[in-house]
Amino acid sequence: MIETMRWQEGKLLLLDQTKLPQSVEFITCTDYKRVKFAIKRLEVRGAPAIGAAAAFAMVLGAQELLDHPDFVGALARVRDDLLSARPTAVNLAWAVEQIYALAKKLNNEDWPSGRILGQLEALAIKIYEQDIARNRKLGAYGAALLPEEAVVLTHCNAGALATCGWGTALGVIRAAHAQGRIKMVYADETRPLLQGARLTAYELVEDRIPVTLITDGMAAWTMKTKGVNAVVVGADRIAANGDTANKIGTYGVALAAKAQGVPLYVAAPTSTFDFTLAFGEEIPIEERKPNEVRSFRSEVTAPEDVLVFNPAFDVTPAELISGIITEYGVVTAPYVENIKKLQEALKEDV
Ligand code: MRU
Repeated sequence: MIETMRWQEGKLLLLDQTKLPQSVEFITCTDYKRVKFAIKRLEVRGAPAIGAAAAFAMVLGAQELLDHPDFVGALARVRDDLLSARPTAVNLAWAVEQIYALAKKLNNEDWPSGRILGQLEALAIKIYEQDIARNRKLGAYGAALLPEEAVVLTHCNAGALATCGWGTALGVIRAAHAQGRIKMVYADETRPLLQGARLTAYELVEDRIPVTLITDGMAAWTMKTKGVNAVVVGADRIAANGDTANKIGTYGVALAAKAQGVPLYVAAPTSTFDFTLAFGEEIPIEERKPNEVRSFRSEVTAPEDVLVFNPAFDVTPAELISGIITEYGVVTAPYVENIKKLQEALKEDV
């Protein structure tokens, strides 16, 4: 399985996902601004991968600030700058706040910045490793929901490339495939940036998991005519009532799945929950540049001045979701009550 990122001798190597599938190239980040740029440009993307990359960016920021007279104050500005990179995936805030909180705590205990840096690096590596372990766990819980000879539809890329490894939605599919239970995966191409075609299809072909690529407009018809038993998608932010933000198009897929009685599962680690938001309406939705819709890479596909609406995410209401697959097990309705229980279980585990 291809590596999304690697922390190596105080530098962050990021797989440039904008170049896939044509070429496999790594970017060497030696300063935090380069990581922020990579997050904005989607060179690294997918909620958990953004979170881990941002954690390493905080370490790079701390490295740059070692001699600063107000080490923690300056690190707070790095944190704020990183938080502005992409607004929807909550994993970014989840990761940078943890690194910042540790820096602040150790600074209050009068640790010198050099020693603090070592601890921040260890925490970033832990965030990275934990993500892979969580995906393995949730993958096993999710696989148990799928029937024999499963025909699954997925949207966007919630695979190894969107995480530190193994994937969430694709983690479920990988686990079920290892048990010999995947007949076919239908991958939506995912306009406008084609994460499904470029990344999901690439990962599944590499792993020899049966995959058929469809355009987004084909999803409802594919469900109706190809015996799809389940839809499994990832998430960028899950509100306390289960409403889930994910790649634009997920909401439409969920409506089609509901109409045809196909269960839709969201696979996400607990780092993707935002317990502070009561409803999905409160989730900030990123809007990206119009040219992403008017063209693909350098190919112009629409009149250059046509008006464009380009939200990067939508929110699927909890009532369209059959279950949220986490590393703690599968959360089902009533979501408000059961997400509260999940939050309690998390507090006990700290
Ligand atoms: O814009 P992207 O490519 O970062 O969007 C990614 C998604 O929407 C994924 O489905 C989500 O982050 C889950 S990744 C495990």
